Amino acid sequence: MLIRELKIRKIFATTSIPTIEIKLCTNKGIVRSSVPVGTSTGRHEATALPATDAIKKFALISRYFRAESFDTQEDVDFTLHAIDKSSNFKEIGGNLALGISSAFFKAFTIEAHMNLFEYVYDQCKPKWHREPKEQHKLSMPMPICNMVGGWHGQSDIQEFLLLPVQQKSFANSAALLSEVYHKIKKELKKEDKSFAYGKDIESAWITALNYERVLAILTKVANENLLKLGIDVAASGLWDGQRYIYKHDKLMRIEQLNFITELAKRFPIVYIEDPFEEDDFITHAVLTHRLSGDREGSGDSGVMVCGDDLYATNLYRLHKGIEQKSTNAVIIKPNQVGTITDTIKFTQEAKKNGLKTVMSHRSGETSDTLICHLAVGLGCDYIKLGIAGERITKINEMIRIEEKILEMKDI
Ligand code: PGA
Ligand code: ZN
Repeated sequence: MLIRELKIRKIFATTSIPTIEIKLCTNKGIVRSSVPVGTSTGRHEATALPATDAIKKFALISRYFRAESFDTQEDVDFTLHAIDKSSNFKEIGGNLALGISSAFFKAFTIEAHMNLFEYVYDQCKPKWHREPKEQHKLSMPMPICNMVGGWHGQSDIQEFLLLPVQQKSFANSAALLSEVYHKIKKELKKEDKSFAYGKDIESAWITALNYERVLAILTKVANENLLKLGIDVAASGLWDGQRYIYKHDKLMRIEQLNFITELAKRFPIVYIEDPFEEDDFITHAVLTHRLSGDREGSGDSGVMVCGDDLYATNLYRLHKGIEQKSTNAVIIKPNQVGTITDTIKFTQEAKKNGLKTVMSHRSGETSDTLICHLAVGLGCDYIKLGIAGERITKINEMIRIEEKILEMKDI
């Protein structure tokens, strides 16, 4: 692949925080890759440098990419790791690393004359021992959508989510979740006198209602629409080193464990993300054990207990979680780890060990739809997205991908 131009520019994430975009021109075409920005970032994520610093680093390292003629994604990502030998890209920034890594990935896709999701699938194929031309086996993940915002808003729990139990098609799930988003708005208007149609940074509704009333509203709409509930507790944000600090309570580890267990019993919750602080592999394991087993509507694995900050898309931490049986699901965020190769390895390892895989957006997003293609190409079980505002870019890309897959099956 001949590189004609490699550029960086400062753009802005949906949170109006500066981020970076990489432009790569090869002899086959032009691609652009931009990087999201987390707000409640985990301690174990790759370092995200301020955009201005990442641009300065780019000036120092871009010659390694301009001068080379790369043949594989592994070579690109190996080069990034060779330049920055730290375990978390603290020298060049995980955001710069992912910008370069994903721009090359998109450029390889053009070389291969494939759709991005198809190329992801194709690249992972040898490791999964699939036959060539098996693209018809591609399937769509189910959406997990942020409906009501918590501590991006009022409640202590960061996100109140809804997800389908099964799906006829992604487009169908998206239509249902969109309708339900408006039903929730009406319910909030009825119950919350101060509700003024406010939305948080992921375009989820903001309400002054407490978590119990929010969960009761979501239970009502979920039951009417064959949906189930999820929560992202983002518990590291509540943890002060000894206790979980809620507005009206302070909970020890065991009290938090009992509180979450109780919530899962009282409401039709099938998905619980980061219920404990990011270094507590043990209490995660106890909860997973408590909530595993057949639970109506949750498939064969009971409630999904999912690690986001716990793993930070880091293979070493995933192995620790697998060893301790900490969770039965994982969040995957490419910018937590910094390269496409590492993202693929993490996802494959999670799948190999029977964990549910959830590709996820960040609270500060761009219009880049890379995660949609990764989620489909890697065969993730779920994709976690917003359902309104600028978040709709990714929902709409999923609808396009689904249509393309259907066309491919017809050929
Ligand atoms: P973040 O929030 O992108 O700010 O990390 C999303 C999440 O915790 O899942
Ligand atoms: Zn999270």
